[in-house]
Amino acid sequence: MKKVIISARSLCKSFAHNGGQVHIIQNADIEIYEGDFTVIMGASGSGKSTMLYALSGMDRATSGEVLINGENITEMSERKLAYLRHTEFGFVFQQIHLVSNLSLFENVAVPGYLNKVLSVSEVNKRADELMEKVGISAIKNQLPSQCSGGEQQRCAIARALINSPSLVFADEPTGALNRRNTTEVLDLLTLSNREGQSILMVTHDLRAALRASRILYLEDGKIIGELPLPPYSEESEKSRETQVNSWLTSMQW
Ligand SMILES: Nc1ncnc2c1ncn2[C@@H]1O[C@H](COP(=O)(O)OP(=O)(O)OP(=O)(O)O)[C@@H](O)[C@H]1O
Ligand SMILES: [Mg+2]
Repeated sequence: MKKVIISARSLCKSFAHNGGQVHIIQNADIEIYEGDFTVIMGASGSGKSTMLYALSGMDRATSGEVLINGENITEMSERKLAYLRHTEFGFVFQQIHLVSNLSLFENVAVPGYLNKVLSVSEVNKRADELMEKVGISAIKNQLPSQCSGGEQQRCAIARALINSPSLVFADEPTGALNRRNTTEVLDLLTLSNREGQSILMVTHDLRAALRASRILYLEDGKIIGELPLPPYSEESEKSRETQVNSWLTSMQW
């Protein structure tokens, strides 16, 4: 049986709006399993990013429980939660958020130095290996502004992996990329999942969703459908696309 990394029970998230409250996530129950490439889909505004932030502890739930490795983060101190985020999670966003005055190499290595689990030389070695893997070794001393969007996103993925996180969260990681860079980034995420990395990705890009081992569908802040899929392969992409498309149609996507 697969191990649960994150589970949420009766998760609710509301925002203050026009003097009242808007309820974005409403009593959602969700489980994310180790080794999965989980994708959350749903219409724009359905609460996908909100869900991701609540599950990762980047934002507090309004009510309900979020358990990470069995610990309830809704009751955790800010300090402990920040530590958990840095040590257990990696993050990749649509707006890439690299530190502009650090080189690509430094962007990847700094979270490793701060984590203090590996020595500086071990972090440097791992950063070099990850940069090699994502194909940006030749430009490792360049600043983000001197790199393409695809190169920057590959750097962000290497950075997300530096501390060997138990889960990588990705919110529309291909949203700002052209077709070729999208394929490269998806190939990287697929490869890292094949090597055992658990991933939770929010997307409304069908091509990105095809990489999933499990797709969850969010509507009005609730998970209303789930599609398990066999591991992705390029050869299976066409038949997978047909399957996912017809499932999404049944979800009224
Ligand atoms: N901080 C906030 N304050 C008030 N309302 C918010 C806040 N964050 C999100 N919302 C609202 O919550 C709803 C869901 O937002 P969310 O960003 O989670 O949607 P999404 O499914 O990720 O959409 P998209 O696909 O467009 O990224 C939206 O209507 C949004 O306006
Ligand atoms: Mg979003």
